[in-house]
Parts: sequence; C-alpha cells; structure tokens
Amino acid sequence: MEENWSAMQQKAVQWIQEAGELLRASLEESLIIETKSNPNDLVTEMDFKIERLLTKKISEDYPGHRILGEEEAGADIMDTDDIIWIIDPIDGTTNFVHQQFNFAVSLAVFENGIGKVGIVYDVMADEWFTALEGRGAYRNGVRLPKLKPAELKEAIVGINARWIKNEKIPYARQMRNIVDESRSTRAYGSAAIELCYVACGRLDSYVNLWLAPWDFAGAEVLLREVGADISTIDNQRPSMLEKGPYLAGRPGLQEKVRGMLNS
Ligand code: IPD
Ligand code: CA
Ligand code: CA
Ligand code: CA
Repeated sequence: MEENWSAMQQKAVQWIQEAGELLRASLEESLIIETKSNPNDLVTEMDFKIERLLTKKISEDYPGHRILGEEEAGADIMDTDDIIWIIDPIDGTTNFVHQQFNFAVSLAVFENGIGKVGIVYDVMADEWFTALEGRGAYRNGVRLPKLKPAELKEAIVGINARWIKNEKIPYARQMRNIVDESRSTRAYGSAAIELCYVACGRLDSYVNLWLAPWDFAGAEVLLREVGADISTIDNQRPSMLEKGPYLAGRPGLQEKVRGMLNS
C-alpha cells in the first residue's frame, strides 16, 4: 500500500502545535525536574507528557505503526522494518530548564530505515523545519535551497566545547584541529535545531559524539533534501537503533571534516 506521507506530516504538525502550546504554558509553572544517567542529564515531567501525547495521537490514527521515543516508547524495538515514528519530545531539555529557549520537538517517520517525513519545531522561535523525502525541505513553509560547498576556513562549525578540552575524550585532538581551522564555532544545545541550522545554512558543519536516533531523525530528512550529509565518522548512515558519534555538513566540507576526524 502506498503511504500518504504528506497527510502524516500535516497531522503531525497539528499535534506538535498542540505540544508547543503546552510547552510554552508549562514555562509559567514550576517544573518537576529529575536527573537520568548523570547529574547533567535532565528530564522533566513535560518530556514525558509530550512523548505520551504524541504517542497517543500516532497510535490512534496509525495503530499498525511502531513508535520509538527517547523517554518511554519502543524500548523493545530491535529492527528498522516497516514504519517507525521517532519522537524526541523535548530536544534540548537543559535549555528548556535553564534558558527557556532553544529547545525543539522532533518527529520523524522512517520506513525500512529510510526517512520519509521530518519535522523539527523550535518552540520559542516558533520556527518549523519540515521535509518529505524527494519533495524538499522547508523553513516556515519556504523551500530551502540545495547547499553549496564551503571551505573549512570560511565555515561555522557546531561543536560542544566540553569535548575538545579533555584528552580522554575520543577525537579531542582532531576536534581541536577542526575548531582551529574553522572561521568560528557555535553551540546551541539542541542537536535537532543545530542539524536544521546546517540544513538552512546557519551552520556549515556539525559534530556530536553522542547522538541517539531521536536527536537526528527529524533533521536527517531535511539534511538529505538539501544535499547535506549526516554520517558516522567512518562514513556509514546513522543507526536507527544505537547512539553514536555523527557529523553533518555541506557537500565537500563534510568530507574534509570526516577526513580530519580520521587523521
Ligand atoms: C540532547 C541535546 C544536546 C546534545 C545531546 C542530546 P536531549 O538531547 O540534543 O544538544 O548534545 O547529545 O542528548 O536530551 O536534550 O533531548
Ligand atoms: Ca534527554
Ligand atoms: Ca535529544
Ligand atoms: Ca529529549
């Protein structure tokens, strides 16, 4: 059966609009904040609430589809067969808690491991990044152009300062060299937003040592539509089942940064 990806996207945008309203309203209240894997890994009641809201909407309208979410959904998913919805209810929870800015809802629909629908909603900027496979990527409804190549010396690289200072961190030396050779660096604290910034040209390259499928899945669909690449350091497609180090960037620059990470 041919799936109607566009109809799925339209429904998902409505659900995420509702999620955005709940998230903005929640900033007026005091939040319950807990830690997960370490004291810097935060989760709030809103992460669960938004994931549950989206899971409920998806399973009501698409009961045969599987759902993978950061907080609860799909912990038993072991393969990428058929259709999987991938949810990050709040990407940038630290920003949500501390800055009340620069956080996003990310949602993607993948079929047999290939991204079909991608949505990243920057809640406070009210900025929508959307894409359908083969039908272009959009920012607030305006089609994004194909990305042109760039030189590292003229590139802004998205990278976390924490990773370049400690020799025990893998690729620290290589990442320092990338920072040194670039024009400048930025860190916004939401991988989904940063990857969309690569797609729309606000960043030229992005490196993250520890991304999960829900961090990149929505943005990956946009990246591919504008001719950008997202890959592992040894140039494989990102895994939908495991966390790992990934880089994304403009054509040409991506190969240069990947080469430096492998040097
Ligand atoms: C995190 C953010 C952060 C990135 C981490 C992610 P979360 O997602 O995207 O920018 O550096 O790797 O885990 O936990 O806020 O959804
Ligand atoms: Ca998290
Ligand atoms: Ca995330
Ligand atoms: Ca999250």
